[in-house]
Amino acid sequence: MNLISMNVVTLLYLVASVCFIQALKGLSSPSTARMGNAFGMTGMGIAVLTTIALMFKLKEQIQTGGMGFGLVLLGVVVGGAIGAIAAKRVEMTKMPELVAAMHSLIGLAAVCIAIAAVSEPWAFNIAARGEGLPFGNRLELFIGTFVGAVTFSGSVIAFGKLAGKYKFRLFQGAPVRYPGQHMINLIVAIAIIGLGLVFCFSDGAAPAWTPYIVMAVLSFVLGVLIIIPIGGADMPVVVSMLNSYSGWAAAGIGFSLNNSMLIIAGSLVGSSGAILSYIMCKAMNRSFFNVILGGFGGEAAAADTGGAKEQRPVKSGSPEDAAFILQNAESVIIVPGYGLAVARAQHTVKELVDKLTEHGVQVRYAIHPVAGRMPGHMNVLLAEAEVPYDQVAEMEDINGEFGQTDVVLVLGANDVVNPAAKDPKSPIAGMPILEAYKAKSIIVNKRSMASGYAGLDNDLFYQPNTMMVFGDAKKVIESMVKAVE
Ligand code: TAP
Repeated sequence: MNLISMNVVTLLYLVASVCFIQALKGLSSPSTARMGNAFGMTGMGIAVLTTIALMFKLKEQIQTGGMGFGLVLLGVVVGGAIGAIAAKRVEMTKMPELVAAMHSLIGLAAVCIAIAAVSEPWAFNIAARGEGLPFGNRLELFIGTFVGAVTFSGSVIAFGKLAGKYKFRLFQGAPVRYPGQHMINLIVAIAIIGLGLVFCFSDGAAPAWTPYIVMAVLSFVLGVLIIIPIGGADMPVVVSMLNSYSGWAAAGIGFSLNNSMLIIAGSLVGSSGAILSYIMCKAMNRSFFNVILGGFGGEAAAADTGGAKEQRPVKSGSPEDAAFILQNAESVIIVPGYGLAVARAQHTVKELVDKLTEHGVQVRYAIHPVAGRMPGHMNVLLAEAEVPYDQVAEMEDINGEFGQTDVVLVLGANDVVNPAAKDPKSPIAGMPILEAYKAKSIIVNKRSMASGYAGLDNDLFYQPNTMMVFGDAKKVIESMVKAVE
């Protein structure tokens, strides 16, 4: 059954690729993100259906047995169902974990495809039956296996660290360090390259299985070794980096299979993941090497559990006091943070803002690029509550306005408004912050005086013009709404 010609396949893959590029473009702004998602889904639908049709065509050409197609369909149905249920159930704050889990599967898929291609290259149209793999393909399959294996095991560790609920030492947020760690990693990496080259340069019809398998096993080990010294706080950057690796692994396999779709989609994922990691590092004023080698999360965990905190007087008030101040202000800026997402209070905040606007108060939201636990976390949260986009301002656009603002309402945010970033001796020195401390009055809602993710005390909470309102964000804002009514 010749469902499709190669020209049509190329054309459909091109259409899918254009959809993926449009998806990335759409996802760069909250107002076009839905359209971006629609493009992404359309592109993926076209790519999957075209690949299935292509499989039929290849099956006829190479006359393989009948089991493969049924297994692929089973994989599509079972995998698709698990993905749909997981995506539907996942809470926004757990999204980085889900992404890490997905990346691990992409890495594993790349390794499985590479093993299958090394074992039966004729089934992939790479070489004729009985003939050995050409050198170029061996090199591509070596790189695909290496990157895929590192992505798989690294993502599994990242998943465990982000979940933070497993007792296993390697899954704890604190970095795992031991003497000679970097040297051991280097030796393992050199061994992988050496074995990979032995595999690539081995001639003959039968592949050199021993160096290939040992190389694959060492790559899985390296994935674990390079991620365990990184602290839990840096896992979102690591996930974005692994996202990039998974893209390059897919692109590498695409070259072996001569599949333009895999090459294009893999390269898009690879480069966008790398750019995202760069943006995240820049927003935290940290170099990529500092993230990979720094173990920032360990310091955070240590500071958090470090016992005695500095005892300084703070002014606290009730939600009703806060509502009174807000109602009598002319201008208010709301700074949402991780705690707002935890409390799932986005709809209640919108209600509060609508009430304040009815009272003639001008209200806007200020978004820090790394507020929350993933890029765009706060934008997604506010979009879910249908907050109008013109009320939402990015950090660089609104930072100049805090000085002329009557009240800043900080909701479950901490590090992103911490003036310690201006102190050259602070661990977060140089991190750009939302300059809430410049406002005439500041109201901060959180449950306690506990630190944020960086594990640091926050001078903003002790300013004479700051009022703390303690409690879960949702309950506190609900009380504020009632008080404004
Ligand atoms: P954080 O600094 O983590 O502070 C969040 C605050 O929310 C906590 O201090 C917590 O205090 C409070 N909170 C928690 N649950 C709450 C609830 N139910 N109701 C009210 N308050 C609650 O958050 P942030 O200001 O958004 O900063 C984000 C941090 O994550 C930065 O350090 C950033 O570098 C890091 N990070 C972010 C990313 C991305 S891409 N977003 C990536 C890597 C790292 P209580 O416990 O006292 O309530």
